[in-house]
Amino acid sequence: MSKQIAIDGPAGAGKSTIAKKVAKELGFIYVDTGAMYRAMALYMIKEGVGGNEREKIAETCTSADITIKHENGEQIVLLNGENVNGLIRTEEVGNMASAISTIGIVREKLVELQQKLAETTDVVMDGRDIGTVVLPKASLKIYLTASSKVRADRRFKELSAKGVKCNIDEIEKDIIDRDYRDMHRDISPLKQAEDAVLIDSSELTIDEVAEKIISLYKG
Ligand code: DC
Repeated sequence: MSKQIAIDGPAGAGKSTIAKKVAKELGFIYVDTGAMYRAMALYMIKEGVGGNEREKIAETCTSADITIKHENGEQIVLLNGENVNGLIRTEEVGNMASAISTIGIVREKLVELQQKLAETTDVVMDGRDIGTVVLPKASLKIYLTASSKVRADRRFKELSAKGVKCNIDEIEKDIIDRDYRDMHRDISPLKQAEDAVLIDSSELTIDEVAEKIISLYKG
């Protein structure tokens, strides 16, 4: 069986940076499942479908073909054959991804793709339901979190460095709203798997968290 490390947690806890690092050190492939939900969200925005139009989302998602490939260790998400990596990192797409991810048929489609990928490849996969639903037999499950204040501060610094004008209180409110939606949806809500190890990254550096995960994996 392929080797699997599952990392779940709320937005902005540092999952993708850390998962990428762990994958590189262990020689596994990093799979960012949030990017798949974001690609689907981008499709809905392009098609003019609103985040509350549940039936329309369910209908429209059948014509979105989402696949991923890896180039130089980087995951590339293809939406109907087009590389959309450069288009999915906005707040608008993130919020839309959180909205459409509450819909069963969207999840079924993407979970199937994620499970197929992990069947044949050693993966570090991050998301919201990886340890609970996608890879319930993963050899190591991590629930990575940090306080909403720390997460908002990190996001603020990231956006400011890119020259984006933003307000830290609004960012924190957005994070709290998104956490609430992700944790309270009916299907596959974000929660810590019973056998997951909890890591709070509020007071830890990226390297410290990555090292901790690697040492947990190596036992
Ligand atoms: O990790 P992210 O911010 O890129 O994810 C965007 C949204 O996608 C997130 O708010 C909820 C949804 N998502 C999900 O429901 N399940 C996953 N495995 C990954 C992401």
